[in-house]
Amino acid sequence: MPDKEFIATGLKTVAKSGSVCWEAPSNIALVKYWGKKENQIPANPSVSFTLKNCKTTTTLNYVKVSEENQISEEIEFDVIFEGVKKESFKPKIAAFFKRILPYCAYLKQFKFEVVSENSFPHSSGIASSASGMSALALCVMSLEKELFPEVTEDYFYKKASFLARLGSGSACRSVKGDLVVWGAHKEIPFSSDEYGIEYPFKIADVFKDFQDTILLVDKGKKKVSSTVGHNLMHGHPFAEARFNQAHDHLSALIPVFEQGDLGQFIKIVEREALTLHGMMMSSDPYFLLMKPNTLAIINKIWEKREESKIPVCFTLDAGANVHMLYPSKNKEEILEFVKNELVVYCENGHYICDEIGQGSKKL
Ligand code: DP6
Repeated sequence: MPDKEFIATGLKTVAKSGSVCWEAPSNIALVKYWGKKENQIPANPSVSFTLKNCKTTTTLNYVKVSEENQISEEIEFDVIFEGVKKESFKPKIAAFFKRILPYCAYLKQFKFEVVSENSFPHSSGIASSASGMSALALCVMSLEKELFPEVTEDYFYKKASFLARLGSGSACRSVKGDLVVWGAHKEIPFSSDEYGIEYPFKIADVFKDFQDTILLVDKGKKKVSSTVGHNLMHGHPFAEARFNQAHDHLSALIPVFEQGDLGQFIKIVEREALTLHGMMMSSDPYFLLMKPNTLAIINKIWEKREESKIPVCFTLDAGANVHMLYPSKNKEEILEFVKNELVVYCENGHYICDEIGQGSKKL
């Protein structure tokens, strides 16, 4: 049943052809989204830092098609990724267009070219679905804004996040910055399962320029996709306890964000990361995405924290790479630590320096 709020009906202006361009960042969840219901509704709320440097830039070129070609329910499009026509990317984008069509019927009037590039290497093991789907959803909204000039800014971003969610759940957290909540939570007003919102409460200064150094342990394609992983939460023996834990962790983070309590922050964030992988290891069938070097890095981070008292911690997404999180004032020392002790565990010695960012940008 489509959400009525987001259905665009009628047409005021019809552009013949044109082009819109957006850049959208990746994000890293602190409380993880793992498990979903039908229509990309999350089983629990999540919260993420929006990143700054890892991003996708997408141009959507559109040309109006003749009336008789509009009968088809399929959207016609080509994908050009980093300068090369990519047939292999089409099914995911076709599925996205199909899912958003009930809310954006005007798309049927056009033929598209999706031209996209990432700021990070495609083979870095960093998922580009969050930044990619978010950038594409924003482009669709820019087209909608051209057709319906009365669209308000608030509605624009809300619907962009709503559409991005239909492409990939975590993408709905990549529209805005710097801390985004997705999923209804009783203590967070206006939080919604349908789209991400900017975290509405006070955030201590220490978090405003928090650093994320991504240690690229394994740049290969994941053996088990997130979609398969999410599905394994159906009937998972620990699912309910896990979903409750995510609610509790989000509640516990409210005073942590306000007071800048890094001790509690570390406990919650690392527990979330290990629970995520614990869910994978205990599903049926079970699977393991961490690699020996993931564990080596985690142990090194723990040793470093113990001996230096720097509040550095880790989180993981659905893969082997490690996101190392720390305050910007410790940047120099931590980057020395990376060069001296962690690069040996990274594939080809590669890592990416990122930090908390402010969200998407129209170009
Ligand atoms: C582990 O958003 O990639 O990164 O909705 O199926 O596209 P789909 O899944 P996706 O899942 C992300 C899972 C995660 C945790 C998180 O980002 O919250």
